[in-house]
Amino acid sequence: MEMNCSKLLLQYLGLVLLLVLWSDHTISRTDAALLSADDLRRVHELNKFGSRLGIVVPNMFEMNPLLRFNRFTPNPIVPYLDIMGKRFRIGKVGNQKVILVMTGLSMLNAGITTELLLTLFSLEGVLHYGIAGNANPNLQIGDVTIPENWAHSGIWNWQRFGSGPNNPLALESNGDFTREIGYLRFANYSITPTSDNFLNNVWYQPEEIFTVDGSPEVREHIFKVPVDSRYLEVAKMVEKQGVTLERCVNSSLCLPRPPAAATVAMGVSAGVFVDNRAYREFLNAKFNATAIDMESAAVALVCYQQRTPFIAIRALSDLAGGGSALSNEADAFAPLAAENAVRVLMNFIAALSSSSSLAK
Ligand SMILES: *[C@@H]1O[C@H](CO)[C@@H](O)[C@H](O)[C@H]1NC(C)=O
Ligand SMILES: *[C@@H]1O[C@H](CO)[C@@H](O)[C@H](O)[C@H]1NC(C)=O
Ligand SMILES: *[C@@H]1O[C@H](CO)[C@@H](O)[C@H](O)[C@H]1NC(C)=O
Repeated sequence: MEMNCSKLLLQYLGLVLLLVLWSDHTISRTDAALLSADDLRRVHELNKFGSRLGIVVPNMFEMNPLLRFNRFTPNPIVPYLDIMGKRFRIGKVGNQKVILVMTGLSMLNAGITTELLLTLFSLEGVLHYGIAGNANPNLQIGDVTIPENWAHSGIWNWQRFGSGPNNPLALESNGDFTREIGYLRFANYSITPTSDNFLNNVWYQPEEIFTVDGSPEVREHIFKVPVDSRYLEVAKMVEKQGVTLERCVNSSLCLPRPPAAATVAMGVSAGVFVDNRAYREFLNAKFNATAIDMESAAVALVCYQQRTPFIAIRALSDLAGGGSALSNEADAFAPLAAENAVRVLMNFIAALSSSSSLAK
């Protein structure tokens, strides 16, 4: 009798232990796929110290000039948090508390990383910086642009051969696509004049956006995303004051004039590396584009969706597609451009900090 009782008890305890182990296992597996309780606690603790400025940068070679020379001071207690494949570096630039994160190349990486940054951390705004191709012949390699608007130039409706500007696009009638923004006609780019081309026309399309304060499942459309108006004022101040920028790659390779920071009308981004003169000229003529890159519009769109202040600083590394005296020198000038982008970023952060403390 007694034997049976203790045997039952043992069996019962064994079952409980099994359940505990099994549930633990389930929890840790779920956490690994999402966010661990430990990470969440660290994020929560960090957010208690107030909001920070988010700094989003595409690649390592663009981040390095900020990490070097003590421009970025890591937090001595929590220098970084690694979450879901991203390293969020915690620290300061000057007196400004920041979180710095690298996205990796192109629109999807930039969008995901910005979304994660905004979801996890308490932020006052987002600064994005890096290098870009240039579509504006009035500017020079090494100049640092701060566009007033960003557009995603990679959403197309590719029109079938035989249709033209007077024919509605596929799915235009239900509001999915539009002919309002304009198109590129392939026949216009033949070396020997042709009346037509089987590639016909591609029509530029706006993004669909679902803002945090909008109705879920009710889309808005936006093509040109404006940067934050206060950040733009600060950028214009920085432009006016002037920033000392790097002019020479080495003793024998210098730019014709000292580079400068410049606010410009427009930057465009898409999952496309533009090293083509005809397309560069089209982007400039059609959209008044200066900076061409692969991330900024994605960061801009996520910040717009979340109603978070945003601005981007992009230093020109090459005349996209070549054709100038300097030809296409992205390889030679990318490090100089990355350095110049960081110098303007530092000046911008300093000017922003002093304008915020004035406002307080
Ligand atoms: C194509 O070229 C013609 C002739 O130069 C011009 O009138 C037209 O605007 C161009 N179309 C596009 C979509 O660029
Ligand atoms: C194009 O942008 C420049 C600044 O980048 C501006 O000065 C100019 O007025 C703009 N042109 C048009 C047609 O919008
Ligand atoms: C300067 O840099 C250019 C581009 O990287 C290189 O081709 C050239 O050899 C360098 N010159 C010197 C003196 O280092």
